[in-house]
Parts: sequence; structure tokens; C-alpha cells
Amino acid sequence: EKGGYEHFMLKEIFEQPKSIHDTLRGRLLVEEGIIKMAGIWDHLERLNQAQKITIIACGTSWHAGLIGEYLIEEFARIPVEVEYASEFRYRNPIITDKDIVIAISQSGETADTMAAIKMAKEKGAFVYGICNVVDSSISRVTDAGSYTHAGPEIGVASTKAFTSQLTVLSLIALKLGKHNGHLSNQEFMKLITELDALPKKVEEVLESTHENVKEIAKHFIGAQNFLYLGRGYNFPAALEGALKLKEISYIHAEGYPAAEMKHGPIALIDENMPIVIIAPKQGHYDKIVSNVQEIKARKGRVVALVNKGDTQVASVADFVIEFPETSECFSPIIASIPLQLLAYYIAVYRGANVDQPRNLAKSVTVE
Ligand code: M6R
Repeated sequence: EKGGYEHFMLKEIFEQPKSIHDTLRGRLLVEEGIIKMAGIWDHLERLNQAQKITIIACGTSWHAGLIGEYLIEEFARIPVEVEYASEFRYRNPIITDKDIVIAISQSGETADTMAAIKMAKEKGAFVYGICNVVDSSISRVTDAGSYTHAGPEIGVASTKAFTSQLTVLSLIALKLGKHNGHLSNQEFMKLITELDALPKKVEEVLESTHENVKEIAKHFIGAQNFLYLGRGYNFPAALEGALKLKEISYIHAEGYPAAEMKHGPIALIDENMPIVIIAPKQGHYDKIVSNVQEIKARKGRVVALVNKGDTQVASVADFVIEFPETSECFSPIIASIPLQLLAYYIAVYRGANVDQPRNLAKSVTVE
């Protein structure tokens, strides 16, 4: 059932060209220039009139939510907040019947997310679910929703469900933006064409980075800490990269927005602190270049994720992982893939049980 792969996690990482394709299938109709999503279309007015959208989730799904915030605010111009379900449910948040709550959950069974949804509904909010497991508790309790259609995810560390969540959030943001007039037709067409190209690019990144990442991982088997940095859309991707490493390799890792480095974490940097930095061409590239220089000046070992053909960051980094270029807003989908592979191989070399990491369960149905 592992399809020839050593672990479910690796199988699921390699399934991503297909899972993203499945998430888009029947929804993204590039030739007609439309995004078809019944859950959004049936409630378009309510969604577009929202005073604010609050995204609630836990773990990896929360990271997807953070990227969802960037997407929805950029393209649909609706204010978005992202909250841990466990915090939201215990803090009496301001939610009324003019609010939309988007709950994201791979399993659809997470106890905190479920309880947060119930509270939001009691306060009159319209709750939209993004779940992977069909007919799960959360998908049944929400007012409307979209499935991610990533297929069953067995590995405890979420991989393909995450990239499918990002794909669904992209579809939602673009559809809302198109219908509320914030996104020009030209821009919309450009973005959906890029979205359509993602499964191919994900395949490309898997092929072109796999062996390289496997080699790079060998250098970090003994690491005790890691910093992951990214800016803009790739800041949450850095958080997610760090979470993957923590969960399966038991190496302490933290994600930070690259610019926050100087507000604290830079004090940690020396030759024993490896730093993974996501540095695509768009999205304040120059700033990232200076971040990398600051790290190198303190002897940090840098693994840089750059676009193909990059020279500036690549020339100072210790290890370089190249990934294909896409629109900035979709770059976390591509950049996450080598980060999943990096966490996977470091964990495998350390002899860890990647599919069943200690102390973790696939769905957290207790608080
Ligand atoms: O099923 P959910 O998406 O609601 O699960 C949320 C988290 O428990 C989950 O993402 C967890 O952080 C994963 N193990 C991450 O790989």
C-alpha cells in the first residue's frame, strides 16, 4: 500500500502533482476563464459582504490558514484574521452574524477546531469548512465548504493535505476577488493560468530536488537546532518547514519571518545553527540577500531555496536548492516540497519512525 515507497510520508510527498491536480479538477476551468466552486458560488453574497473572515485551525492547517490570509486579503480585499482554534475557543472573540469563519482541517476531526466552530456558530457566524476527509465531523457541522480531495493521508506529518489546502485557498481567494471586482480579468486570467501549471511544476521540483536534498540532509544529521526563514507568502512556509522537521526528526526548529531575525534570533547564529532560507526572486529578494549575508557574517550554515538560475543568494549559501518560478502567491506550494523532503531525509538518517512519530496521533480528537 506504500506503492513501493519506504514510508507513507515519502509516497504522499511524491503524490503531490496528482493531489494538487485532483484539488483543481472540475474547479479550475482555464479555457472558460472560470473557477467553479459550488460552496462559494451558493453563498457568494454572504461571503463578499463579510466584515471579516476568521480562519481557525491547528498545526499545519493553521499554517495553510496564514497563507490563506495573505491570499484573501491580496485578491479579495476582505480583512482576515488567523487563529489557533484552541485560543479562539477560550477567549470570547468578537464574532457576529456578519462574520465568516473558515475552518481548515485535514482530518475533519480535530477537537479544538470542532469546538471553535460550534462557538462561532452560536455567535451567528457563517462557517465554511476546508476538510480532506469526506463526511468527517467538521465537514458535517459546517454551513458550507470545499473538500481538498488530496486522498487519504496516512503519514502523521501532513504533506499533500497542506499543499491541497493552499490550492483550495488560492481558488477561493481568486474566485472572491473576481466576483467582487477587486481582481481584474487580466490579472485573474494570469493567476489561474499559473495555478493550472502547478501540478507540472510540483512534478518538476520533485524530480530536480530529490537527490540533491537527500545529499544535503546528510550534513545535518547531528544538528540540534534549525532556523527556517522566509518573507511574505513564504513566512508561513518557513513555519511549516520547521514544524515538519520537529515532528519527525525531533530536532528543535523554529520558523521566523526573515526580517524578524534581527529582533532576537540572530543572537543564536553561529557555526552550529543551520538556517534554511526561502528566497524566491519575487517577494523582497534584495532584503533576503542581505539577511543571508548577515547570517554568513556570523558563520551560520545556510541552505537556500532559490529560483532556477539564481546567482546572488546561491553564491553565498552553503547549500542551494533550486525550484521553478511561479507567481509569488503560489511559491509556498512549490517551496514546501523540498522542505518536506529535507525533514523526511534528516529523520530517516536519524533512524526515526517518520510515519508514526513519538507522542503524535494523526488526528487529535482530545484537547
Ligand atoms: O486534521 P487537522 O488538519 O485538523 O490537524 C491539525 C494538526 O493536528 C496537524 O496539522 C498536525 O500539526 C500535523 N501532525 C502536522 O504535520
